[in-house]
Amino acid sequence: MSLTTRPLSPGLGVEILGLDVSEPLDDKTRNEVLAEFYEHLALLFRGQNMTVEQQNRFTTTFGEIGKRTVGPRLRKSADDIYTTPVMVVSNILEDGKPLKGASANGDAEMGFHQDTAFHEVPDAVTILYGIEVSAHGGHTMVTNQYAAYDHVPADLKRKLEGCRVLQVYDYQRHRVDADIDLSGARYYVQPIFITHPVTGRKALYVNRMMSVRIEGMERAESDAVLNQLFDIAEDPGFTYEHTWEVGDLLMWDNLCSIHARTFYPADERRLLRRTTVAGAGRLHA
Ligand SMILES: [Fe+2]
Repeated sequence: MSLTTRPLSPGLGVEILGLDVSEPLDDKTRNEVLAEFYEHLALLFRGQNMTVEQQNRFTTTFGEIGKRTVGPRLRKSADDIYTTPVMVVSNILEDGKPLKGASANGDAEMGFHQDTAFHEVPDAVTILYGIEVSAHGGHTMVTNQYAAYDHVPADLKRKLEGCRVLQVYDYQRHRVDADIDLSGARYYVQPIFITHPVTGRKALYVNRMMSVRIEGMERAESDAVLNQLFDIAEDPGFTYEHTWEVGDLLMWDNLCSIHARTFYPADERRLLRRTTVAGAGRLHA
């Protein structure tokens, strides 16, 4: 078969119509899906009906499934991982407690970020499947970081050539600051500009939630440069904003895009199931 597609936005993304991704894909279809994905950065499949096992199988179409590591506050050993790769993204409480496997930040809005930018090997792909969706807000925004790289002024690109930035995740706060105590956080120093391991294209690799400080640069200058880069990275001109429907499967390339969630009311239920594809190695400039 040949895929039927529809662009999602001028900046990135296509919807693939009429394909049931809960079933195994034949080689030809798989190759076509991969080509669309790496060209357009984000794919949408509507009207899906998937079990956890089917979502896990679909995830492995793109590589090895990503494991969920346990943060420093909760883990029992350095390589402690959750028993399931599935993360529940939800605000739902049962008996006053979050659902099993729920992330710490499932409610309200969430700022732009790459998933696991603070890991030595960040996840390559993120896949979200909509089980319950809010009627108002809770949209997912995905922004093209190849385009962001192209929008970095030439003199700033030269200045930042080969530079690296400290990426930190403190899951008790949505935005870390440069004076953070790293002992309770997960962090890694990443290149500011990366070369995508599959496409070979250059992407900007910073985000307002986790990128704290440019290595070897004075604090004030680092803050100013990062703020300039965040503004470029979050340009609405190359952002797709997704309004969720039940049965949507939305996925994006986590190495050349950033994503965020818009606010949604606390009294509306929202439940998405997330899987990731593990990165194949460290990121390089
Ligand atoms: Fe995320």
